[in-house]
Amino acid sequence: MEKLTIALAKGRPAKHTIETLEKAGMHFIDFHADSRKLVFFNEERTIKLIFVKAVDVPTYVERGAADIGIVGKDNILESRADVYELLDLKIGKCKFSVAGFPDYTADSNQTLTVATKYPNVAKKYFSNVGQSIEIVKLNGSVELAPLIGLADVIVDIVETGSTLKENGLVVLEDIEYISTRLIVNKASFATKSTEVKDFIDQLKNALE
Ligand code: PRP
Repeated sequence: MEKLTIALAKGRPAKHTIETLEKAGMHFIDFHADSRKLVFFNEERTIKLIFVKAVDVPTYVERGAADIGIVGKDNILESRADVYELLDLKIGKCKFSVAGFPDYTADSNQTLTVATKYPNVAKKYFSNVGQSIEIVKLNGSVELAPLIGLADVIVDIVETGSTLKENGLVVLEDIEYISTRLIVNKASFATKSTEVKDFIDQLKNALE
């Protein structure tokens, strides 16, 4: 009988997460990386795995469409979803940073134009440091914005730093450490506590 629904972010960390679940003894027999299927079950049919867009994982979990979600901290922070975050899988490690030209100097008296895929994260950070900003919401290639005069700085994910470097930009400030996290729906945590805890324990053992 189906006990837990797990929402997994499609994309880069998904393969790694599936490998970890396999190591934890959960076998998703018909899963393969290039499949277009979006729903998978383990052999015992106790776990249903659904593949969703990373930005949507916190929504699925907050609304109870999934009991558990495995997704990057970047999407959790941006969604501001009301969920429990219970485990750091320590994969997909990167950081949120403010980046711009090396000679950029901050001026708190002027409104800063900030290009980003993460407006909520950017607003929160600049509000904390007392800087007024105008957001330019983009959906990718954010590093281009300062180069063509669309923004003064960007707030984006930095992993290796090569995208910044190849575009003549540098990290001006670090905002937060990012990695893949496990989140839990608040009601599921109460009503399915044994199943949720067992799942997390199995995953923890596989990660060690
Ligand atoms: C992400 C992020 C940066 C880049 C950082 O973009 O938005 O652009 O990766 O990685 P790096 O520090 O290792 O260079 P992604 O590859 O998701 O593409 P996008 O620009 O289309 O969002």
